[in-house]
Amino acid sequence: MILLLLAACAPVAGPIGATDLPDTAAQAAILTDPAEAVDSDPDPAVVHVALTAAAWRYNGQSPGPTLRAKVGDTLIVDLQNDLGAPTTIHWHGVHTPYAMDGAGWQVAPVPPGGAFTYRFTLDHPGTFWYHPHFDTEGQVDRGLYGALIVEDPAEPKADVDAVWVFDIPGEAPAEGTTDTDGDGHGEGGGEHGFAFPPAPWTVNGLTLPTARLPGGAVVRARLINVANVGYLALSWPGMRVIGGGQGMLAAAVTEGPLVLAPGQRAEVELLPAEQAFDMVSTPWSLAGPSAIGEPMAVLRIEPEPAPAAAPIAWPFSGATPTPDPGHTDVVWSLSGDVHTGQWLINGASWPDIGFTRVPLGSAFIAEVRNLSPTAHPFHLHGMAFEVLSIDGRAPPAQRIDDTIDVGVREALRIKVNADNPGDWMAHCHILPHAEQGMMTVLRVE
Ligand code: C2O
Ligand code: CU
Repeated sequence: MILLLLAACAPVAGPIGATDLPDTAAQAAILTDPAEAVDSDPDPAVVHVALTAAAWRYNGQSPGPTLRAKVGDTLIVDLQNDLGAPTTIHWHGVHTPYAMDGAGWQVAPVPPGGAFTYRFTLDHPGTFWYHPHFDTEGQVDRGLYGALIVEDPAEPKADVDAVWVFDIPGEAPAEGTTDTDGDGHGEGGGEHGFAFPPAPWTVNGLTLPTARLPGGAVVRARLINVANVGYLALSWPGMRVIGGGQGMLAAAVTEGPLVLAPGQRAEVELLPAEQAFDMVSTPWSLAGPSAIGEPMAVLRIEPEPAPAAAPIAWPFSGATPTPDPGHTDVVWSLSGDVHTGQWLINGASWPDIGFTRVPLGSAFIAEVRNLSPTAHPFHLHGMAFEVLSIDGRAPPAQRIDDTIDVGVREALRIKVNADNPGDWMAHCHILPHAEQGMMTVLRVE
């Protein structure tokens, strides 16, 4: 690929919110994907990598190394903890055995100087991510996160498969102010309920970088929101969303904005374009859904000139949502508010919670009700779920996910196949909310 010279001076349309840019050096930053982890195992069905956590980086980089594997592979990760604090790795969205989940409340975290080997089989394609689940709010904010891409060899290949990790650095209280009681939970900081964090978004660690796309290339970009609190509400010309966190969608989505709550992922297809354009994010109200403020550019796309190309024939299933059987087996009600700084599920705040129990092998229907005045991205460990309805309306196409935004006063019904035994955490992925109690446990036994 030939890089365009002097791209910063190229005659592109003025980006929306250009005044938000910190400086010209940042404008000229060229986006690169996070370096991929080196697979040390010659067996094509095993991906074996080493991750050292030190100075709030994995292998010295943030985002951490991208782990790439294919469905059916065994993933082995040797974690060395060279932080001055305990840590774990949680495989967000992945169907792992309970002992490998890294949730660190029954399974002891890896102490400073310690090591742990995670090993599991990847049974589902998708765009996943990994992050600590110990002092999560502080450790994720300081830079411990990375992408785990599980490819399906049966899917067509795009010319470029890109990983774009979106973050807002500095959302958590400064280091040293969290976890003052040493229980592994930060003490929370700030009133994040309504205000959109002011700091600008970064993509792969850069503020408003430019992604240069080789001429004529069809790009599959995997977007991951690793922010503690910030919601992305992205739009761009020719928007085409082809996948969520759990792989291909049932059908492409071409209308925006693409809202990614903390923890959520999407796969988008970018076709060769005539002109440079910006991906913009509209500040998103958690009391919404509504925009609050002006759209802000987060990423500039500069395609090299090339002839048009057709979209890839992705294997969308076209599946329609499973009809809602009507009964409810499990209720999770989310409540609390910014004034008390206490967040609850079913009236209880972590760690003083009661377990929800379901039999292994059952399929259960859960209703997630948001009784609070702010939205919450609800995340379940261990098993993906199907969204049956949102406020009584079925989604337009079948939707499988592991993290879903529950709007103010919304009731969401999901179907979970309880096929994975363990004590799985279910929590809000706004990390200060989780630290302030919005976590519970689903026991599959
Ligand atoms: Cu990504 Cu329990 O978290
Ligand atoms: Cu929340």
